[in-house]
Amino acid sequence: MATQLSTNSEMLPAAENFVSCMRELFRDGGNETEIWTKASDYLRDLLVDEDLKRHADTWPDSLSVEGKPGNLLFYEDPDYGFVLNALVKAPNLKTTVHDHGKSWTLYGVLEGGEKVTRFERTDDGPQVPQTASISETGTHDVVPGYIDFVPPWEIHQEQNTDQRTIGFIVRSQRSGTFVQNRFDPENGTVAQYDGPVQMPYKLA
Ligand SMILES: [Fe+2]
Repeated sequence: MATQLSTNSEMLPAAENFVSCMRELFRDGGNETEIWTKASDYLRDLLVDEDLKRHADTWPDSLSVEGKPGNLLFYEDPDYGFVLNALVKAPNLKTTVHDHGKSWTLYGVLEGGEKVTRFERTDDGPQVPQTASISETGTHDVVPGYIDFVPPWEIHQEQNTDQRTIGFIVRSQRSGTFVQNRFDPENGTVAQYDGPVQMPYKLA
């Protein structure tokens, strides 16, 4: 069932402002690459907001060691469908190798630091395959303020360092409304899942 938060639910002023800017972008139209590139600029401003950083001090860990990963869900836009999430990783945890299906994602590092590894498909199979050949294309360290720009079907993995790391995430649609792939680079198998569990959380 849809978890839709009202636009009237009050958030921190900087988050409210971010949402207004995002809504304006969607209202103006344009192609998705342009929209999400511009949205990165807005997110960059939001990530330095002191109120947001303070608020994040009390956010609970949302990536579990076993079982399904979770996201805090702050906002879902009733008209354009974009959502504001956070992924809070305890020290030394890593995600699976995965994509975000057909959705667009901006993954902004709010606190901590981690490694992001990217992969590419070396076969020409479908976007939702049962098996896939993939290879690593690079790993880089990310720090607060960094924004990972994740277009549809891009394959990646995040590995936390020895501190808590928070990703403040903007998605084009709520996880659970589209299929994602999880890749096993060793044996080439792929499994589908419906993304992280959504945990409504008040950003106020
Ligand atoms: Fe991801």
